[in-house]
Amino acid sequence: MLIPLSFLLPLQLLFTASPSLQTQPQGTLHRREYFYVGENYVNTPGTNNGSQIAAGQVYVEHLVPARVTQSLPILMIHGHGMTGTNFLNTPDGRLGWADYLMAAGFEIYLIDQPSRARSAWQMGVDGDQSDFDTTYVASHFSAPEKFNLWPQSALHTQWPGNGTPGDPIFDNFYASTMPSLNSDEESSIKVKAAVGKLLDNIGPVILLTHSQSGQYGWILGDFKPSLVKTIIAVEPIGPPFINAVFPPLTPARPFGMTEIPIAFSPPISSASDLKIEVNPALTNASLGTTCFRQVNPPRQMVNLVGIPTLLVTSQAGYHAIYDDCSVDFLTEAGVPVTHVRLEDVGIFGNGHMMFMEKNNLEIAEKVVLDWIQRTIH
Ligand SMILES: *[C@@H]1O[C@H](CO)[C@@H](O)[C@H](O)[C@H]1NC(C)=O
Ligand SMILES: *[C@@H]1O[C@H](CO)[C@@H](O)[C@H](O)[C@H]1NC(C)=O
Repeated sequence: MLIPLSFLLPLQLLFTASPSLQTQPQGTLHRREYFYVGENYVNTPGTNNGSQIAAGQVYVEHLVPARVTQSLPILMIHGHGMTGTNFLNTPDGRLGWADYLMAAGFEIYLIDQPSRARSAWQMGVDGDQSDFDTTYVASHFSAPEKFNLWPQSALHTQWPGNGTPGDPIFDNFYASTMPSLNSDEESSIKVKAAVGKLLDNIGPVILLTHSQSGQYGWILGDFKPSLVKTIIAVEPIGPPFINAVFPPLTPARPFGMTEIPIAFSPPISSASDLKIEVNPALTNASLGTTCFRQVNPPRQMVNLVGIPTLLVTSQAGYHAIYDDCSVDFLTEAGVPVTHVRLEDVGIFGNGHMMFMEKNNLEIAEKVVLDWIQRTIH
């Protein structure tokens, strides 16, 4: 998108001149627009007289820095309970990953997942939703060191504030969480449809996913392989085929890393065609992890084999326990994955919400931007 400089320059002057902004983080001068993609008109539930509503649409926020110097935009998709605000500013008002990457010259697209937040949840059309409660958020994300649900949680130091209710930073973060569809199958189907259309409209992207949306990275890369140039998967949902760490350890992701079918080679006609066995080296019952792998020879996730992928794991989050298993599964299936554990590159104490923690911009620079610069030419 072309932004006329005559429009931007006076705004920039206005910004730097404003005394009230001088105590705030300056941020990256940019233009914001929003739009919706993927709506389908359906009969208003309970009517049959021509009354219609729209469902399935995704809210898209497009941020265009004053100086675009990178050819590919970055599409960021947040995880469960979250919205696109994850990547704007942090809950304590510092700059987020979107600002940092705009300063490096990237256009940014953020979404709110379908049926959540600014993407309408339509009663009688969309499935049931639920919330993360405050204990879940504190124990899994902001203050795991106080709950000790997994061994590495003791190493968590990077959350701003004490991470529990009553702390203004926690309260601001918790207030940003949103009811989310219970079914990852339903949300996957809706993201595939709506974000698939978004990709058709905007062209190739760098796709950045987190947690729940990790599976959408594999689904969208499989669906639109020519439009997903690289995937940066920040602690993507896993491990393959089964939930881990937090009981109940129920089956999940029947296609390995996804709830809905993606292409394998040789092809499968149902999930049960994937023959799997326990990978003993990455299984630890006392940690609540069973690592499944495909039996040899593993089927290939054939549409993802040309998409360079970065998988990022924090030192102290619960993914530290099982992301090795997800990486092993992806690698065996032919996906070219580079796995960065933050502690291996000198970044310590982070949890699952690393992009809003105290050292968020260090991770953006040393891990995310570094990967993009080495991968996209
Ligand atoms: C259709 O029926 C609904 C429910 O009775 C009513 O609210 C709505 O106004 C009707 N719409 C039209 C176009 O007749
Ligand atoms: C399982 O994890 C626990 C806790 O980290 C560790 O003490 C134990 O050695 C592990 N067991 C195996 C078989 O790796």
